[in-house]
Amino acid sequence: MSKFNLKVNGKNHEVDVDPTTPVLWVLRDHLNLIGTKFGCGVGSCGACTIHLNGRALKSCQLPVAAVGTQPITTIEGVVEEVGEMHPVQKAWLELDVAQCGYCQTGQIMAAVALLKTKPNPTEEEIESAMSGNICRCGTYVRIKAAIQQAAKSSTK
Ligand code: FES
Ligand code: FES
Repeated sequence: MSKFNLKVNGKNHEVDVDPTTPVLWVLRDHLNLIGTKFGCGVGSCGACTIHLNGRALKSCQLPVAAVGTQPITTIEGVVEEVGEMHPVQKAWLELDVAQCGYCQTGQIMAAVALLKTKPNPTEEEIESAMSGNICRCGTYVRIKAAIQQAAKSSTK
């Protein structure tokens, strides 16, 4: 076991865990941030997507020892970053994107990261950025429409 100081959603947390522990499990089991989901555990589904230094990343593939001082944002911290519901979250609700909901926090984290770097993404850019996030309910059409709506509302 080793001690790590993690900055998660703007707050510092000390955890005492094995250095190889994936950040997914540190968030869920040690910090009780259960919005980040476990899907495949092998980097193939995107359910565990978080932001590390603002970049979307699969937390099941990220050992806690690799984080260092880089800030982590989870779905619980997205509202705090903008001070209100994020335009992506608003669009998600307006277009009723979710079906079972399991993949959706990962989808939203990927979408928020995309719009940070590309505020007006093309369809191809959306497809490429979201290609690592699987939805077994097949909500892809609504996900794309919600990202386009969020992009429009953010650039108004
Ligand atoms: S749980 Fe991390 S990619 Fe599937
Ligand atoms: S909404 Fe069910 S897996 Fe995506």
